[in-house]
Amino acid sequence: MELLKEKILKEGRVLSDSVLKVDSFLNHQIDPLLMKEIGDEFANRYSDEVITKVLTIESSGIAPATMLGLTIGAPVVFARKRKSLTLADNLYSASVHSFTKNETNEISVSKDYLCEDDNVLIVDDFLANGEAVKGLLDIAEQAGAHVIGVGIVIEKGFQQGGQQLREQGIRIESLANIKSLTNGKVEFFD
Ligand code: G4P
Ligand code: NA
Ligand code: NA
Repeated sequence: MELLKEKILKEGRVLSDSVLKVDSFLNHQIDPLLMKEIGDEFANRYSDEVITKVLTIESSGIAPATMLGLTIGAPVVFARKRKSLTLADNLYSASVHSFTKNETNEISVSKDYLCEDDNVLIVDDFLANGEAVKGLLDIAEQAGAHVIGVGIVIEKGFQQGGQQLREQGIRIESLANIKSLTNGKVEFFD
């Protein structure tokens, strides 16, 4: 997605060989017009499918997921990272280990908002090692829902998550796929 790649080149800051900071439009301040374009792009890429629910994880997945939900007229559910006060027996939950942050979070979704009739598209802001997506897949499976695929705003293709998930036969559409962040420079695939 050209508009997104231009925005990354203009406003992204390379913090290290593996971390890209995009706080000006995605992870802290949000650019709503760009998010709307991102939602439309996900809708276009998956226009061959009927999506009944968009599934994401708080916090930074919510903006792009909501814009997709707005475009296609489907509800958006976000997995929570902290246990809610509701009884755990009404929750699907999975553990998500972040190698970047070296911490494990329990993520959960209420059984009220995901069921076996759902055709789910998973959305997230970043795909690195794929742990968050694997947790969301686990939750969708517990619900007996059908997962159509995954929509990612920024994939770091030099990390292993995307390859591992594609090898499992999961359809992943990433709108910008980064080949390298070395020497302080962002390089995209094709
Ligand atoms: P993984 O899910 O693909 O395994 O990713 P990882 O554990 O490496 O990522 C942990 C958190 O860091 C996630 O956000 C993820 O979106 C974010 N992240 C990973 N790589 C980058 C990067 O290069 N730049 C930025 N800006 N973020 C990155 P989170 O902890 O779930 O936080 P939130 O932003 O959604 O609240
Ligand atoms: Na995220
Ligand atoms: Na994030």
